[in-house]
Amino acid sequence: MRTPLMAGNWKMYKTPAETQAFFSKFLPLVTGATHAEIAICPPFVNIAAAVEAAKGSRVGIGGQNVYWAKEGAFTGEVSAPMLKAAGCTWAIAGHSERRQYFGETDETVLKRAAAALDAGLLPIVCVGERLEERESGNTERVLEAQFNGGIAGLSAEQFAKTVIAYEPVWAIGTGKVATPDMAGAAHKFLRGLAESKYGKSAAAAVRILYGGSVKPDNVRGLMAQPDIDGALVGGASLEANSFASIVNF
Ligand code: 13P
Repeated sequence: MRTPLMAGNWKMYKTPAETQAFFSKFLPLVTGATHAEIAICPPFVNIAAAVEAAKGSRVGIGGQNVYWAKEGAFTGEVSAPMLKAAGCTWAIAGHSERRQYFGETDETVLKRAAAALDAGLLPIVCVGERLEERESGNTERVLEAQFNGGIAGLSAEQFAKTVIAYEPVWAIGTGKVATPDMAGAAHKFLRGLAESKYGKSAAAAVRILYGGSVKPDNVRGLMAQPDIDGALVGGASLEANSFASIVNF
């Protein structure tokens, strides 16, 4: 069966010292959490501190974004081999904030995911509809386009190492969590897309995380859905106790 993945996306929060402080509090709270994989994606400048602090634990570290060229004159970007060399396991691609504020497209999401895989990182590819898209009945159309453009270009071998995160944009940072049924339906739809493209067993194996206002008090209901395999947590991953209760749902 699919091992849950509980991942924290710290977005643009915390310094290296705050990163260290988080881990000294967090690690003792999750020593018994063998039911799930755990990941933290801090800002790039904290990756070294996070890797050092997480050494010997079961917590993997990831980048919040990744560029597709290995190196070159790309001011401000960080490549997949660099993340790998810094000790990362994971890389997020296509977060809705990247799509909304930084011009991310399905085409660049695919390039980032493929580059992460080439470097031996495991990509967490984010998809999700905006409020007006949900309200106009276009959720499935949007998810399908994002899947086709940002994920379906991966080979079967690459897809087997990929995690999908369903993050409805209207639920991110708003406190408006999708109901378990609503999220479960979107996850089921995404698994269906995976099945059409990669077949039954690949679809049964792929992990699909839910993201958007996940908190200690709503994580259980979400995780009870058969197609929800973990969480991608923003705000509630910044505090050790709250992220530990999510991990230990
Ligand atoms: P919040 O948990 O703060 O809503 O953020 C979700 C998210 O965007 C994780 O990537």
